[in-house]
This record gives sequence, structure tokens and C-alpha cells, in this order.
Amino acid sequence: MYLDYWGLKKFPFENVPDPEFMYYAKGHEEALVRLLYIIKRNKGAALLTGEVGCGKTTLSRVIIKQLPEMDFDIALITNPSLDPIDFLKEVLHQFGMNSETSSKSDLINLLNSHLLENMKAQKISLLIVDEAQLIKPGTFEEVRLLLNFQLNDRFLLTFVLIGQPELQGIIRDYKQLDQRIAIRYHLNPLGFEETAEYIAFRLNKAGLAKNVFNGQAIEDIYQYSEGVPRKINNVCDIALLIGFSIKAAKIDADIILKVIDKSL
Ligand SMILES: Nc1ncnc2c1ncn2[C@@H]1O[C@H](COP(=O)(O)OP(=O)(O)O)[C@@H](O)[C@H]1O
Ligand SMILES: [Mg+2]
Repeated sequence: MYLDYWGLKKFPFENVPDPEFMYYAKGHEEALVRLLYIIKRNKGAALLTGEVGCGKTTLSRVIIKQLPEMDFDIALITNPSLDPIDFLKEVLHQFGMNSETSSKSDLINLLNSHLLENMKAQKISLLIVDEAQLIKPGTFEEVRLLLNFQLNDRFLLTFVLIGQPELQGIIRDYKQLDQRIAIRYHLNPLGFEETAEYIAFRLNKAGLAKNVFNGQAIEDIYQYSEGVPRKINNVCDIALLIGFSIKAAKIDADIILKVIDKSL
């Protein structure tokens, strides 16, 4: 593959939510600060939306990495399109508990006592639901009820709901849930300067200090990707491969055009 040719230690443009490769664009930085605030202050619920490929899932992994295990008990649900009972079971499972029961009230009691234990141990219980636009309507009711878990005005469970833009509208229909959202943040794609920095940053992280993409190449990547990191990754990865196959010294606009032609 092209790693040796470009002098890279790792693949720089893999589409995996690896916190090591996190580039803090202004939006990602702002979202991170706000979400951490809600989580650390135990403020109830937060909503993070954004178009596909903008970095929501990656950001969730960064957040989890930043919260010390000693102080936080975290359940992450990445595939929430479940019926209410299975959803509750999955929440429990992600909190490290497996139960045989399929009785809703038993499951809720189990969860409640787990959350109380965490509170006694001064741990914050955090539930992160990714792709939350896929939550089924009946299950949304359940989520709303989970938010009611509180003791002496303290929330027993902090929520971060992450999803595609339509999630904003979906939540608006669940008035009580909607009112509990303390912070909403919409993650936008990268700007042009950020796209250039993003490319240089990821090359650097992968072991290549010089930027092998020339200016026109970066402009074309921006035009094509509209600043969406997932699309930038796709173009850059194939560009490095084509560059290697034709023994190019730099990635220029011709190479980018070849990539874009093929993926259209
Ligand atoms: N801020 C960022 N820094 C580094 N890589 C990012 C960033 N945002 C997105 N990516 C990359 O783009 C890919 C798609 O992002 P992802 O977090 O899966 O987006 P979403 O969950 O919004 O669809 C990720 O696998 C990751 O490699
Ligand atoms: Mg995602």
C-alpha cells in the first residue's frame, strides 16, 4: 500500500471515530466544551445534531475518553432502533448489568437502583445515545421517563442525544423531553481554512510532517466535500493511493479530479 511511499506510519484518512485523530475545528471545540459542561454539572440532557459525516460520533468518543472512570459511569448506545423493553435492556447492559427479566417495571427498578448506587458513590451516570433519530416513538416515551429519575432535585441520569438534523424536530414533539434539553448544538461542516488544517493535521498525526496536497488540490477537495470530514477522508485516501500508483511527488488538482470522477 501507499504508506511507505509517502513516509506515513498509519493511514491518515481512515473513516473511524478515533479520538487520536480528532481535529478541533471551531464547531467541534464549542460542542465539546458545552457537552462536557452539561455532563460534569449534571444538568439533565444535551442534544448534538449534525449532517452525516460531520464528526458527531468521533466527538462522542472524545467525550468518553475525557471522563475519568472513577467519576463517571457511561452507557453508550449506538444502535437505538429497539422496542422499549429491548432498549431498557440495552441501557442496563451498557451499564454493565445483564438481566433475564423482560418485565418493564423490573428493568426500570434495576436501572433505578444502579443509578442510586452510582449517586451514593458520587459517580455521574451518563447515557449517550448515538443515531438517536432512529429511536422508535414508543421508546422515546421510555427515554422521557428515564429523565424523570431524580432525587432531591438532582438528576440521576444525564443524557446526551446525538443524531442527524431531523432529531431536533422529533424531540420538539416530546414536550417534556424537549424542556429538559439544557443545551443544543448543531455541528456544521468545516470551513475552507479548517479543511486545509484538517488535512495537514491528519497527515501529521499519521507521521508525515509535510503537507503533500498542494493548494489547488485542497480547494478542489473542499469544493467536492463541502467540508464534510467523512468525504474529505474518502477523497484524500484515494488521492494518496493514486499518487502512489503514478509515483507523484505531490497530490495536485489532476489527481483530485481523477478521484472525484471515479466516485461520482
Ligand atoms: N473533528 C474531526 N477530527 C478528525 N476526524 C474527524 C472529525 N470529524 C469527523 N472526522 C472523521 O470523519 C469520519 C466521520 O465522522 P463521524 O464522527 O462518524 O460523523 P457522524 O457521526 O457525524 O456521521 C470519522 O470516522 C472521522 O474519521
Ligand atoms: Mg455517527
